[in-house]
Order: sequence, then C-alpha cells, then structure tokens
Amino acid sequence: MADRRGGADDGGAIDWESLAAAAHAAMLHAYAPYSRFPVGAAALTEDGRIVSGANVENASYGLTLCAECTMVGQLQMTGGGRLTAFYCVDSTGALLMPCGRCRQLLYEFRAPGMVLMTTAGIRTMHDVLPDAFGPQPLEELS
Ligand code: THU
Repeated sequence: MADRRGGADDGGAIDWESLAAAAHAAMLHAYAPYSRFPVGAAALTEDGRIVSGANVENASYGLTLCAECTMVGQLQMTGGGRLTAFYCVDSTGALLMPCGRCRQLLYEFRAPGMVLMTTAGIRTMHDVLPDAFGPQPLEELS
C-alpha cells in the first residue's frame, strides 16, 4: 500500500486530494480511442495554480501525447512557472507512474524539491529520474 501521508519535507503541505480530483477530471477529457486507456495528470505550481492534462492519441500511434505533455502545455499557456507536486491516474483513479519520456518533461519544469505521488508513495524527482539530462551541458556550450 502506497504511503500517501505527507511529512515535513515530503509534501506534507500539499493538498493531494485536490490534485487527485484535478487529475481525474482531466482524465475525462482524454482522447484514447486506440489504447482505451484514458490518463489524467495534474500538478501544483509554485504560485498555487493547479494545471492538468489528458492523453491525446493519434492514428499514427507514435505521435500520441501523454497526459503529462498536455499538462506541461497548459502550464506554459497559463502563466508558466515550475511544478511542486504531481499526480497521475487512470480511468479507475489508480495512480500511474509517469513514463520515461514524461519524467524528462517533468524534470524540465520541476521546482526545487518537487514531489510526485507514486505507486510507491511520495517520491522526489531525483528518485524517479536519477542522473537526469538537463540544461547544464547546453548552457556550458553557449
Ligand atoms: N500515457 C500517459 O498519458 N502518460 C504516461 O505517463 C504513460 C502513458 C498514455 C499514453 C497512451 O495514450 C496510453 O497511456 C497507453 O499507453
């Protein structure tokens, strides 16, 4: 059973229930006729907004946008900023781990100390994407 309790430094101040509700509401907007696996994602921003997204599939399967992709799009289009907490669900409300590509997407927009509710409890970005590729090598070249 995943530990969803928050502690002092593990997301204790985060309203996970609101994030779960936002993820579920987003999931209802999924376009998933091929997999029939609707996904909803939601995240809290540093300035207190909740952004969300749903997966949008395509007949050319590889072009599918994960829920995290549309969520990050909403983040940018509604004021930008950084993410502090993340939640992702399937159509039953069960927690989902973000796929590998989406961990990279989340990494790009993480706030320091960002946490994720996962099937293994609250995890940091570093827990789910250690030794990540980031902007540093690109900045060193410029
Ligand atoms: N999916 C997401 O939306 N997010 C993930 O992190 C994992 C997978 C979607 C993509 C596809 O539409 C469906 O789940 C089945 O793979």
